[in-house]
Amino acid sequence: MVVQIDETATTLEGAIQEFLKSTTSNFDVLKYLYNSNAEEFIPGKTSVYYSGPYWNDEEIVAILKSVLGGKWITSGEQVHKFEAQFSRQFNLKHSVMVNSGSSANLALIGALKKYLDWQDGDEIILSVVGFPTTLAPLIQNNLKPVFIDIEMDTLNFDLEQIEAKISDRTRAIFLSPVLGNPPDMDRLLEICDKHNLQLVLDNCDSLGSTWKGKYLNEYSIASSCSFYPAHHISTGEGGMVSSNIEEIVNIARSLAWWGRDCYCVGAANLLSCGTCGNRFDRWLPDYDGVVDHKYVFTNVGYNLKPLDLQGAIGSVQLQKFDEIEQRRSHSKQRLQELLERYVPGIRVPGQLPEAKTCWFGTPIICPDRTVKQELVNYLESNKVQTRNYFAGNILLQPAYKHLDTAADYPNANVVLDQVFFIGAAPHYHEQVFSYVEDLLKARYGK
Ligand SMILES: Cc1ncc(COP(=O)(O)O)c(C=O)c1O
Repeated sequence: MVVQIDETATTLEGAIQEFLKSTTSNFDVLKYLYNSNAEEFIPGKTSVYYSGPYWNDEEIVAILKSVLGGKWITSGEQVHKFEAQFSRQFNLKHSVMVNSGSSANLALIGALKKYLDWQDGDEIILSVVGFPTTLAPLIQNNLKPVFIDIEMDTLNFDLEQIEAKISDRTRAIFLSPVLGNPPDMDRLLEICDKHNLQLVLDNCDSLGSTWKGKYLNEYSIASSCSFYPAHHISTGEGGMVSSNIEEIVNIARSLAWWGRDCYCVGAANLLSCGTCGNRFDRWLPDYDGVVDHKYVFTNVGYNLKPLDLQGAIGSVQLQKFDEIEQRRSHSKQRLQELLERYVPGIRVPGQLPEAKTCWFGTPIICPDRTVKQELVNYLESNKVQTRNYFAGNILLQPAYKHLDTAADYPNANVVLDQVFFIGAAPHYHEQVFSYVEDLLKARYGK
């Protein structure tokens, strides 16, 4: 197909907008991609996804602009710009973007191990229920995970069980708030202070959540984040490692960039002399010749780099963050009211008084396995997506069961039986809520 571009489109952005106009009837790209336009919602036919990218034509323009006008397709100016904007938005000093939240956790733990001089076998405390790639990087970095059972109010790890598990090898507590909902941060920080432990944050589900008015990332030495489509902002795939300590982020960046020593970022990566102005020098201590700094490796690294277009999307998404946060909060509140009104015996956890949760989903605790299975089947068969509370007790999973005894964590063992979640997505609208209400009324009466 040959598209005629209006001759008046003199800028790249103008040409892209003309192109989009010529390929869609009313320039509403979201309508075509994500079925979230109110006019298009057909009860029982349109899927109510548990989440999805909250994008419109602005993200599409950013992608095309980055691809057509960029210089190097992979991490460059757009990623660097997004890293700086992300840091500013969440009161952080330094951030490095990577290609997923899992990669962010891998680089985060690797960087902390080096920066804090953790030794193989040092212990890190975390919840026994969570996402697998919160745990996996500990094992991949030869650290020892020490598990804590959950409490059933917020489904977070039970803070009162932590102290009994602290040993002289414990170095940190790795917090991953459930569906964005913080535990009692005052108590957690008190435990960290008392035992001289670092607080590390997997912020993949809790971006934007606050405790006493401060973002959770402001309480931790370093944090990770995910931009997978289910998350608060999405770049398709993507993640971020952040800290106020520059050295931690520099090590994470090196790990994500093959382990190299060169710290050129953004446009500087294309400079012939490098940011240091000294690219060709005697960089290798055991070699007396001149080498290119780009080929000096100080860490055993990976390649976790995102594409530049992901950075471009991130910058647009950040401008929508407040709107996304408000819409997620509204979706959670509406769905919670409906579920609690109609479904007997279920409970939807809420936030603690000092917390303001930026909800990732709407958690549901059922009285027993039968109620959960019935409700999940009913919602799914009517096109309302549901999700497990991640891995359940992770010690029941084949990859991790050798780490400890699942039966020692009784609350975690009820998760697969009784807990699941539905969305708190920003694109839900009144028709979605009234469809869910009709469904629940039809099945449970009242
Ligand atoms: C708490 C938590 N950590 C890490 C991840 C991994 O993020 P990604 O899917 O971007 O690799 C997820 C994914 O949803 C998550 O929920």
